[in-house]
Amino acid sequence: MARAGSRFGAAFDRAVRRPWRAAAGACAVVFCAGLSAAETPPSVAADVLAAFARPARRPSAEDDDARQVALGQALFFDTRLSGDGSLACASCHDPQLGFADGVPLGRGIAGSRLPRHTPALWNLAWGRTFFWDGRATSLESQSTGPIESPVEMGAKLEEVVARLSDGSAMRAAFAETFPERPVVDGLNLSRALAAFERTLVSPETRFDRFVAGERDALTADEIAGFHLFTGKAGCVACHSGWRFTDEAFHDIGLPGDDRGRGAALGLAAADHAFKTPSLREIAWTAPYMHDGALATLEDVVAHYEHGIVDRPTLSADLPKGLSLSEAERDQLIAFLGTLSSEDPPRSASLPPHVEAAPSSAGAVSVSTIGQAGKRFAPDHVRIRAGEGLTVVNDDTRTHNVRVDDPRLTYSSGAQEPGDKVVLSFEEPGQFLVTCGIHPEMRLTVEVAPQEPAPK
Ligand code: HEC
Ligand code: HEC
Repeated sequence: MARAGSRFGAAFDRAVRRPWRAAAGACAVVFCAGLSAAETPPSVAADVLAAFARPARRPSAEDDDARQVALGQALFFDTRLSGDGSLACASCHDPQLGFADGVPLGRGIAGSRLPRHTPALWNLAWGRTFFWDGRATSLESQSTGPIESPVEMGAKLEEVVARLSDGSAMRAAFAETFPERPVVDGLNLSRALAAFERTLVSPETRFDRFVAGERDALTADEIAGFHLFTGKAGCVACHSGWRFTDEAFHDIGLPGDDRGRGAALGLAAADHAFKTPSLREIAWTAPYMHDGALATLEDVVAHYEHGIVDRPTLSADLPKGLSLSEAERDQLIAFLGTLSSEDPPRSASLPPHVEAAPSSAGAVSVSTIGQAGKRFAPDHVRIRAGEGLTVVNDDTRTHNVRVDDPRLTYSSGAQEPGDKVVLSFEEPGQFLVTCGIHPEMRLTVEVAPQEPAPK
């Protein structure tokens, strides 16, 4: 395996790749010794396992279909999308490297150094926001970003559209894919790219087989590592669910002066906060973090133990004073290895599922909303136009209550624990309230017309 030592680093190879080989039957000496010494691991509670179960379907835009996916895939590999014809999306998002690029900071057009590390593109169908700082709110709006970015692909959208329209095959493919608007343009281009990206679902790994009930799919050490991940090490506070991300933004104390989410929101309380990355397929996507500064998973764990830079913006969810024994460190890293494929991953195919819009049936009439545990409670309410809706931060975290709607734009600024904000909706209709720092927090507000004045 020529790739192992060089790219992942020796530490990673030792910690992560050996258990795989052992599990596949070629029992490495070190590993067998470890296994015979290990006690039967404590069993994992059913509700803990359930929190990591893979979904059967992926969320999807209503109009995403097989033709769009195929066109999007072709475009993803097409260098006509860059200014000088030298780069495709896949030049940086390499399928062989989990759709990342394997270097700390990649190079864009004309060799310019990128300001941030290229992220993997797994499971973005479930994403709430895109980019490390979440500045795009849909995959459709994201894709034209790299094309027009002067350091990434350095192209003008009109030029790309003109180049693609030049080829009769491309014109025909767009016409066939979008019969209702059969043109090559930025909108159709971004719809096709997004449809393809939504199909990139990380494949099942040994961890999924374990969650599904195959108890010997993981070794004793890996199960011990899972217990550390969900217990003592506190990783699950942010890397939660089957994708291992809460989709929220946290300052985890990495050095550097990139303001991240803080700059995207114009909110100092979110400075140095970046989107929690998924931990799926990370064996293929080293190096790590928004700046690519950590080369191996050992470096990552060392960061959480003693690398955290003390700052007022540090996430309330970070473990404090974490200290692991060498054996625990190895177990935690061995567990992380079970979230990755043993060969270069190919995306799993999951049928799309059209999410129904929330119906007003489940709405309750209340005037106060709580936010404990990164949740609006209740999360679906009915009020009348002009009435106040009080949102109380009874959580341990800083929130940023927002409405981003053409009818109403609102931001609470930094809403610290204990702070209350009062929202008022003048227009009837349905509104979505979110948190800028924890976008998985969703509150649907049904605003009924004002009570007619008594005659
Ligand atoms: C020159 C390298 C490069 C090219 C080419 C490139 N990207 Fe990226 N991509 C990046 C970097 C770097 C980021 C992170 C930027 C940031 O967060 O500020 C990124 C972020 C993304 C994200 C956000 C992922 C997430 O987890 O939020 C998506 C989606 C994406 N790119 C898709 C594309 C598509 C589609 C194309 C082609 C149209 C493309 N990229 C071309 C380097 C590149
Ligand atoms: C407070 C929330 C939080 C906790 C707790 C947390 N993480 Fe993270 N993790 C993040 C964020 C946010 C990033 C990205 C930070 C950045 O790039 O600035 C990250 C990045 C990572 C990465 C790099 C992934 C990549 O693709 O670059 C790994 C691996 C990781 N964490 C593992 C762990 C482990 C193991 C633990 C437990 C010891 C843990 N995390 C605890 C939020 C958290």
